[in-house]
Amino acid sequence: MTKSHIKVTINGKVVEALVEPRTLLIHFLREQQNLTGAHIGCDTGHCGACTVDMDDMSVKSCMTFAVQADGASITTIEGMANPDGTLSALQEGFRMMHGLQCGYCTPGMILRAHRLLQENANPTEEEIRYGIAGNLCRCTGYVNIVKAIQYAAAKINGTPFLEAAE
Ligand code: FES
Ligand code: FES
Repeated sequence: MTKSHIKVTINGKVVEALVEPRTLLIHFLREQQNLTGAHIGCDTGHCGACTVDMDDMSVKSCMTFAVQADGASITTIEGMANPDGTLSALQEGFRMMHGLQCGYCTPGMILRAHRLLQENANPTEEEIRYGIAGNLCRCTGYVNIVKAIQYAAAKINGTPFLEAAE
């Protein structure tokens, strides 16, 4: 099959590659770029484990062809740490608030939460729950994921994080 040449910026680094037109973005990232943080949970667009940020939008990379990423800028979980290598506010939030158990959904959750906080710096609990509705977690029950995002929002905004009583 004829391959297409694509040029993509991934986590700040320009990458050029040849891909088949049928290659999905998730397979391009995991198999050609060795970026295995984005997970494949369902392959049908339902679970959000494969979520990455593409041109300032949350994208399910199992529903996107790699050729569609030509010219785009993508952030994956591998690019979410601070420039000095320390954990970003969201990563720290998931760690501090116990927002993960098996961790399979976590990269997609963090990338989705990242875009959510870009769109709404101070979301309510309801807005967080609505914002992550496309990302499924089979382990946590979501309570601690919501807290993790609230923790990150407070840290980014420089406001106190007041953990809600359960
Ligand atoms: S693997 Fe993409 S949405 Fe589930
Ligand atoms: S922590 Fe296991 S699926 Fe979310």
